[in-house]
Amino acid sequence: MKIVVIGGTGLIGSKTVAILRRGGHEVVAASPKSGINTITGEGLKEVMAGTQVVIDLANSPSFEDKAVLEFFETSGRNLLAAEAAAGVRNHVALSIVGTDRTPDNGYFRAKVAQEKLIEASGIPYTAPPSFWNSSARLPLQVRMET
Ligand SMILES: NC(=O)c1ccc[n+]([C@@H]2O[C@H](COP(=O)([O-])OP(=O)(O)OC[C@H]3O[C@@H](n4cnc5c(N)ncnc54)[C@H](OP(=O)(O)O)[C@@H]3O)[C@@H](O)[C@H]2O)c1
Repeated sequence: MKIVVIGGTGLIGSKTVAILRRGGHEVVAASPKSGINTITGEGLKEVMAGTQVVIDLANSPSFEDKAVLEFFETSGRNLLAAEAAAGVRNHVALSIVGTDRTPDNGYFRAKVAQEKLIEASGIPYTAPPSFWNSSARLPLQVRMET
């Protein structure tokens, strides 16, 4: 199965890529450094060809309230549009426990916006919630959801 891990060079993405590769999957570790950018759209159409599952583990370079909201909204829109056009079968994103109960946290508001875009996309999805900084367990959880 071809799986694209957006943010595949990050803290959780790199572990996820390694686990999926050990499982025998064809995995693309996507990030701006490898020419795939969810903000500019660069490389998205090309990488989606033949892809069955996309795991979105990208993160905003800035956690400032406005910047992080813009990141997750723009990234989510571009990514989900490319997935829909290519017929991707499942979208996985990592949620955070308690985001919907903490509206005064700008990062959490951005994660809620990301989840609303995913729900509205019509693409089958899984978005397991995890505790922040419990990163050792997260890739295992992602694997179970794919
Ligand atoms: N860390 C946690 O404890 C935790 C808990 C729950 C949920 N999550 C969620 O899991 C996701 C990943 O978190 P993380 O801590 O692993 O993040 P991270 O270590 O900061 O990694 C971010 C990744 O996103 C990539 N990226 C940045 N801008 C991009 C763009 N425009 N297009 C494509 N990729 C881009 C980076 O690529 P470069 O290497 O090229 O910069 C990097 O691979 C986030 O959505 C976060 O909310 C994290």
